[in-house]
Amino acid sequence: MRRSLFSRSSLGGMFAIAIAGSSAACGSSTPAGPTCSPGAAGVDTGGDFAPSLDAYCMVHVADGQVVPNAAATPYDVNTPLFSDYAVKYRTVWLPPGTSVAYVADDRFEFPVGTVITKSFGFPADLRVANAPVRWLETRVLIRSAAGWVGSSYPWDDAQKSAQPSAGGAIVTFSFIDAGGKTQTPNYLVPSQAQCRKCHANDGAMITLGPSAAQLNRDFAYASGAENQLAHWARVGLLSGAPTPAAAPKLAVWDDPATGDTTARARAYLQANCKYCHNGNGEARTTGLVLSNTEADPYTLGVCKPPVAAGKAAANEHYDIVPGQPGQSILLYRMQSTAPSIMMPELGRSLEHAEAAQLVSDWIAGLSGTCGAP
Ligand code: HEC
Ligand code: HEC
Repeated sequence: MRRSLFSRSSLGGMFAIAIAGSSAACGSSTPAGPTCSPGAAGVDTGGDFAPSLDAYCMVHVADGQVVPNAAATPYDVNTPLFSDYAVKYRTVWLPPGTSVAYVADDRFEFPVGTVITKSFGFPADLRVANAPVRWLETRVLIRSAAGWVGSSYPWDDAQKSAQPSAGGAIVTFSFIDAGGKTQTPNYLVPSQAQCRKCHANDGAMITLGPSAAQLNRDFAYASGAENQLAHWARVGLLSGAPTPAAAPKLAVWDDPATGDTTARARAYLQANCKYCHNGNGEARTTGLVLSNTEADPYTLGVCKPPVAAGKAAANEHYDIVPGQPGQSILLYRMQSTAPSIMMPELGRSLEHAEAAQLVSDWIAGLSGTCGAP
């Protein structure tokens, strides 16, 4: 299915995101004023999504930026999921009087009533620092009594209102990437069923970002920069947390100050692949586990033949061949944009070339040989 969210693009199928001087720049009047409250939207109804994003009282868009409402706490992760170069803005809200218990090695288990949002948008030109962003959608996850439920809320052209989308959409537009090249993604606004492709583990929806290792970084709050774990503990969102120095910390994939090539490549695979490539995820039948803590080289793909050969294997024999990025199926599938070959299988239409380079450098530095297939 290919349809557009925007009446303008349904005519031509493509538009350049125009921001400066557009309606996005004057959209500061928002219904989500100081009197709204996140818990009021009926977050424990288990699947009935509010008819408008405002009802959750989490975020609105003003002057090309997502603005968190007073009760919502914005957060960031050390190494994010790649989504066709979208910029992202995340917020979390916990019901008053509740907190999340610290765990060192796994995801945080949020209390019933928690609301998390993640907004996706594109500046017209990635080379311009702090440029206004055209926001495409805000995804909402709600911890209902029965488990997590989620929906995308695509934003209208005026950036004033967002309504839930059950069926999703593909949006085509163009932007200029960091290298000055025009990119034209077929950007996926996921359907509610597609949320499950990535967020379901052993059948149940889970959160994928918030963990000690991902949150252990500074965030520029309105009150000033502070480590997120320390901030969450200080404002009562997180209980039982050690000092940030004693908590695990995932490398930032594109910041060499945070880790060597191995640490950053493993962090990238952890954030972008492990949610399917683990013992309970969508790719469990492959036996390929792409977590950053996997200690067995074979399980990580080194000299491991793929379960399915054929075109996705490009006539190569192993997921990773030490020292040989060009013979490694894992890299080949990261570089591909062909539907039956590319990894991840959904959520991107462009190659993440910078990340593929990082993984290529990592494989080039691995030693050993696989022997004849
Ligand atoms: C291609 C896989 C993929 C799909 C499809 C997907 N997500 Fe996610 N989502 C992720 C990953 C990975 C993260 C964590 C990393 C990050 O935030 O960058 C995440 C994070 C989130 C977050 C922040 C909380 C968290 O779990 O980390 C929300 C909210 C969210 N997604 C909602 C949704 C909703 C709603 C849908 C369906 C409409 C959806 N997502 C579809 C992969 C996906
Ligand atoms: C949305 C779920 C999902 C995500 C995310 C995902 N994969 Fe996969 N992957 C699969 C499934 C399902 C298969 C098995 C079918 C196939 O080979 O196409 C697979 C197979 C593979 C294989 C063949 C493995 C084998 O031994 O059989 C490789 C290599 C691979 N993926 C690499 C990656 C990399 C690298 C990433 C991250 C950049 C990634 N995948 C992210 C679902 C996913």
